[in-house]
Amino acid sequence: MAFTLIVNGESHTVRAAGDTPLLWVLRDELALTGTKYGCDSGLCGICMVHVDGETRPSCAMTLAEAAGRSVTTIEGLHGPLAETLRAAWRELEVSQCGYCQTGQIMAAAALLAASPAPDDAQIDRVMDAVVCRCAAYRRIRAAIYRTSRPGGEP
Ligand code: FES
Ligand code: FES
Repeated sequence: MAFTLIVNGESHTVRAAGDTPLLWVLRDELALTGTKYGCDSGLCGICMVHVDGETRPSCAMTLAEAAGRSVTTIEGLHGPLAETLRAAWRELEVSQCGYCQTGQIMAAAALLAASPAPDDAQIDRVMDAVVCRCAAYRRIRAAIYRTSRPGGEP
């Protein structure tokens, strides 16, 4: 069956079963491999994307559910906030093995778009959805603070 979805501002027609996870549509059909595969169960958050501006684990959403909606992946994350966030990530050398980092950045970008200066409780509430097996949590928090309060890390 054919489904149309908007990914990173471009319209795509995808011919696949409606229950195909969005994660595999992004990676296998659209070659957007920045979104990573982790638990495949909606638990680790590593596959996080934005759907109509909200974070969603792409392994836990089907192609049929995503059809007609606007999906943003790490490849399509642009704008001043995204660039400031990426710069903070680089400056603080947040990444360790790097595997979870797409999910972390997508979650952080959505958090900062909704709450420009989040406190620790807000950061915990949103960022708890993405697991980092390297435990880079302190640097992730610092990068969120640096983006939202230049020079004001915790
Ligand atoms: S791979 Fe999607 S939540 Fe873990
Ligand atoms: S940096 Fe290795 S899993 Fe997060």
